[in-house]
Amino acid sequence: MQFKFPKNFLWGGSTSAYQFEGAFDTDGKGPSVQDTRKNYPKDTTDFKVASDHYHNWKEDIALMAEMGFKSYRFSIAWTRILPNGFGEVNQKGIEFYNNLIDELVKYNIEPIVTIFHFDMPAKLEENGGWLNRENIDNFANYAKILFENFGDRVKKWLTINEQNIMIIYGEIVGINFPEGKNKVQTKYQINHHMMLAQAKAIALCHKIVKNGQIGPAPNILSVYPNSNKPIDQLAAMNMRIFKNWFFLDTCIFGRYNNLVIEYLKTNKIMFEILKGDMETITANKPDFIAFNYYATATAQMPLEDLDFDALPDQQRMKSMLGMFQQVSNENLQKTQFGWEIDPVGLRNTLRELYDRYNLPLLITENGIGGYDELINGFVDDTYRIEYYQQHIKQMALAIKDGVNLIGFNPWSAIDLVSTHEGVKKRYGFVYVNRDEFDYKDLKRYPKKSFYWYKELLEKNSIEID
Ligand code: BG6
Repeated sequence: MQFKFPKNFLWGGSTSAYQFEGAFDTDGKGPSVQDTRKNYPKDTTDFKVASDHYHNWKEDIALMAEMGFKSYRFSIAWTRILPNGFGEVNQKGIEFYNNLIDELVKYNIEPIVTIFHFDMPAKLEENGGWLNRENIDNFANYAKILFENFGDRVKKWLTINEQNIMIIYGEIVGINFPEGKNKVQTKYQINHHMMLAQAKAIALCHKIVKNGQIGPAPNILSVYPNSNKPIDQLAAMNMRIFKNWFFLDTCIFGRYNNLVIEYLKTNKIMFEILKGDMETITANKPDFIAFNYYATATAQMPLEDLDFDALPDQQRMKSMLGMFQQVSNENLQKTQFGWEIDPVGLRNTLRELYDRYNLPLLITENGIGGYDELINGFVDDTYRIEYYQQHIKQMALAIKDGVNLIGFNPWSAIDLVSTHEGVKKRYGFVYVNRDEFDYKDLKRYPKKSFYWYKELLEKNSIEID
């Protein structure tokens, strides 16, 4: 049976400025933490040139239009607009995004703009980054400039990409933690400031952008217990709260989840909330939930004698003593880069999110990173088509279940640089001809998945059994 998606379903693709644009210091752009960052993993490139979208934006949008995109989710580089993060506006930056947005409008592609995607201005990081309360207002001021300049054409806004990942695994996405301070307390203080920054941006969007809608864009996943032991169910519930609900409950229900607060208080690492903060958060609620989905997680209760410090880095970051330990799920296949693949998990995640919050849902990332090879000007990425077919089918089933899903903007529209695994880990429907350290000619080649996606968008339907 064919499932028809709603008529106005926002089919598109997604990118972020620092991973896609390149031109890291062109036309007055200032440095962000991604440009000044020293800890690139071995054998991976930096973000200076990326896919050079800055000089190829017209061709890139034409390719998106050819695929039949109805929307395009991209981020604006704060330091292109305000090179230092505050102060004078860089008109060249405004001009670049004006041209980009006009071109999208020309093709009837709805722009969905992320205000912040992992690229704090280096100048603001020097004065404490997200830990410094002053930067809440710097963020709000930057958001205001975006609403004033682009709000006539951009009606869908996302505040902060994957705030929860920045808080939980901040080290891998450019967050620096000051020496001498408790790291967990610092993380939750930063989180509180981001919540306030988000609330202020929501208020400004609602005030300035006519018919504007705005929402958060966390990374959300269902968590399975590793066994039917009641204690593992508790671990899974703990992980769901620490990973997902803590962040969404705050902006949607206007309260911090008790489990996390009690944990912080018991460990004497509670963050500071000033008078009026919760009122600001409560008064400014999002209109929809955007979220990124790659895979589910599986959790068990850590054994009491577990040597936490002896765990490999990734596992330690993905676990919390006394609360949950993330383990791998033997029922799931893995990508070439070791990420689990769980299409049914997407349906589970959509159902859980909608049950809990009852807000429209927008998928802003989903996709598979792999080693793609250009052979005679063509890339056969059948594995990517299979991945999307399975995930999109589960989206259809979730809509049939009653979930209000309004769009799908997978990662990534066109090849770009992975956050920590370089250019060799490709995600796009379009191949960009460059290697890790050899920029080559950066020419664009539609992959096999490009043509498959184009056909799907034309039909606006998928086979479900
Ligand atoms: C998300 C980010 O976490 O996952 C993207 O929002 C990122 O910026 C994507 O690129 C895929 O992760 P990675 O590490 O494979 O690039």
